[in-house]
Amino acid sequence: MSDNASAGGVFLGLDIGTSSIKAVLIDEGQTLLAEVSIPLSLSRPRPLWSEQDPADWANGVQEAVAGIRRNRPEAFARLSGIGLSGQMHGAVLLDGADKVLRPAILWNDGRSFAECAELERRLPNFRQRAGNIAMPGFTAPKLLWVAQHEPDVFKATRRVLLPKDYVRLTLSGEHVSEMSDASGTLWLDIARRRWDDDLLGATGLSIANMPRLVEGSALSANLSPAIASQWGLAGRTVPIAGGAGDNAAAAVGVGAVAAGQGLVSLGTSGVIFAVTDRFAALPERTLHAFCHALPGRWHGMAVMLSAAASLAWIAGILGRKGDIDRLVAEAEAFARSADNVASAPVFLPYLSGERTPYNDPAATGLFAGLRAEHGADALAFAVMEGVAFSFADGLDVIDAAGAKPTSTMIVGGGARSVFWGHMIADATGLTIDLAESADAGAAMGAARLAMLAAGAGDEATICTRPAVSRSFTPHADRAALSGPRLRRYRALYQAEKAARG
Ligand code: XUL
Repeated sequence: MSDNASAGGVFLGLDIGTSSIKAVLIDEGQTLLAEVSIPLSLSRPRPLWSEQDPADWANGVQEAVAGIRRNRPEAFARLSGIGLSGQMHGAVLLDGADKVLRPAILWNDGRSFAECAELERRLPNFRQRAGNIAMPGFTAPKLLWVAQHEPDVFKATRRVLLPKDYVRLTLSGEHVSEMSDASGTLWLDIARRRWDDDLLGATGLSIANMPRLVEGSALSANLSPAIASQWGLAGRTVPIAGGAGDNAAAAVGVGAVAAGQGLVSLGTSGVIFAVTDRFAALPERTLHAFCHALPGRWHGMAVMLSAAASLAWIAGILGRKGDIDRLVAEAEAFARSADNVASAPVFLPYLSGERTPYNDPAATGLFAGLRAEHGADALAFAVMEGVAFSFADGLDVIDAAGAKPTSTMIVGGGARSVFWGHMIADATGLTIDLAESADAGAAMGAARLAMLAAGAGDEATICTRPAVSRSFTPHADRAALSGPRLRRYRALYQAEKAARG
């Protein structure tokens, strides 16, 4: 145990999300001492584009830490480690002086579809090498897009970082990434956990453009003396853990660290995450086959781009943004009648295109079966059901890779809705456990990685499963009612795709 920890250390988890920066401060017993969230905005300057200014993340982190310090000044003064997690795949382009060259292109940006085909053309065994199909959400095709559409920017690019790794640079001055997040670039040899020269070469890059790699639970760098004194920690050595992509961090946060353990994440995006003890790939089915944030483990992941984002969207349209809980209650009341469910509209949640199972950035959202009698309750029900169906499609892919989890926890903002939890259990057939405190998610996992990197305990004592407040078990009657609707949901996508030509 380090000196800091034995003196009663505290640990900071920072999650660089898409809609907010979250910071949590925990003590050695993992009691939550403070939690702060700073909202972020997203820019969609053109159809399919999704961007953020990396300066907003760096400023948001400073603001979040200031909030934590205000809440718990004495505890913060004992800061013994920092863990970072963040939205995956985003491309932050830096020049030789580490200046940001353009807005970051994010995970839910669909502009680089043509570049995906080009990458797979340039390296014929691309999918085997990368263990994944090239999808526009991933980092490599974004760089190829910049090379083709903004050649001056590409020429000036010396380094490419992921969102949380850019924040690390602002905190430590060092370029470092870790295995789980690096897996989503399409530049990593995922089985061997190291950069792959040929994959980098296909994008016109080399290892010199990449950050150094560590495991998520290992030390990556120390907080720089300048930031330490700015935070009132002058003279203190504060290690920063490698950290994790947000999904791997959330998995660590709920103790999904061994093969067979899984996670359902109902955030802006929807994710089913299953830990494996081997590298299990299924690129043709759009499985995300990535490293876990802990050594010697991997995970399979299905990623649905608009999960809670779909509910936020319909709430906005209905003028109910500030009132989502009541809208959900209305949807739940609506669904108590089997007749209502049978005649409800069917919704496809492809508002930002879709990754799993289609890899189709041009897919769109769709309501089918609308009637004059349908009101806000029916629309909200259909949207929540459509998201649950997208989880069913995601689980099928994980199952086909032989990685179906045997135990599953749910996290993310949407997990606050018991009704939605039941719908996802019914649609997937999974039994899903809700942790007593599900909200902190990725930031909590990041704080746990900080503890591991600081030597404040081992995995068995730190990465435990949190207490479960309730379990959602699949309900045969409800599943029977939704079966024909799921078939219609799948057929609607195929019909719409065919009509698009
Ligand atoms: C994972 C993915 C999303 C983002 C959201 O592949 O793209 O889950 O990490 O933050």
